[in-house]
Amino acid sequence: MMADFPGRFPQTRPRRSRRAPWLRRLVAENSVSAADLIWPVFALEGDGAPEPVPGMPGVFRQPIPHLVEAAKRAHGLGIPAIAVFPHVPDERKSADGDEAVRAGNLNGRAIEAVKQAVPEIGVMTDAALDPYTTHGHDGLLRDGEVVNDETVERLCQMALLAARAGVDVVAPSDMMDGRVGAIRAALDAEGFGHVAIMAYSAKYASAFYGPFRDAIGSRKALTGDKKTYQMNPANSDEALREVALDLAEGADMVMVKPGLPYLDIVRRLVDRFAMPTFAYHVSGEYAMLKAAAEKGLLDYDACLMETLLAFKRAGCAGVLTYGAMEAAELLAE
Ligand code: PBG
Repeated sequence: MMADFPGRFPQTRPRRSRRAPWLRRLVAENSVSAADLIWPVFALEGDGAPEPVPGMPGVFRQPIPHLVEAAKRAHGLGIPAIAVFPHVPDERKSADGDEAVRAGNLNGRAIEAVKQAVPEIGVMTDAALDPYTTHGHDGLLRDGEVVNDETVERLCQMALLAARAGVDVVAPSDMMDGRVGAIRAALDAEGFGHVAIMAYSAKYASAFYGPFRDAIGSRKALTGDKKTYQMNPANSDEALREVALDLAEGADMVMVKPGLPYLDIVRRLVDRFAMPTFAYHVSGEYAMLKAAAEKGLLDYDACLMETLLAFKRAGCAGVLTYGAMEAAELLAE
């Protein structure tokens, strides 16, 4: 019991405040609204039909015209931002991921099309090479090692390409050292001082990213793992150091990833830095919920909303979730 809580049974009965819906609503400490949601979407080359992503029911890779319609629907439901990820065809991948910095690539065209059609919605995108490399790593491989500084130069070019396409937020998801500062400087030097950076600051080498790697087509490509750059799930203090570095380098917002298994990290960061802190409810977490619901084991809608509330309770300013549209629809009911 809290030392400064003077209540005692039977004068104090906690159930008294849970008696009726109006009262529970009145004393609620947290809530979820559509304004808390960022919806990750996958762009697909061409103008054919959307392709379902294996393991993620309800998630599709979408050609740009579909993506534009999806962004309109998201905006209509009050979702403030989407995060665009490209599905890059195998023939456009290379060892150094040159496609990532090619003007006119899929990601840039998707950003541009959405921003033109729905300027009111925020558009963010990753800076990382994994959708573009034949080896599936987020950086450049030299003699079997993911090299840091040379990768950072590439990330700066990616950020500039996205900024020229009209992106609002660049989200470095690569976990190279020093990339936030370098990207900030590159953006500022080209007159993109208004483009924000949401740093994947505490991004863990997690086994929960599997379905995402299918979505962007990098799972079968990936050789080895990402443990030399993504964080060890055993660590918590290190997340504070990562965030401190990113904030010193100019990050406007920080992120923890994955989500639910890492809420302790979110809480520590919010308490320590009081900065807008986001969590990524990642593909594997979404897939677990959907799979359990398909088996009749869980009520998907209820579990999704409870999950989102848990993120808010932990201190998140917002959540990236594949369930964003479903949640926004439920909230609108
Ligand atoms: C790429 C990236 C990944 C995710 C977001 N950006 C995968 C990875 O690091 O391997 C995962 C998102 C998800 O699982 O939903 N750097």
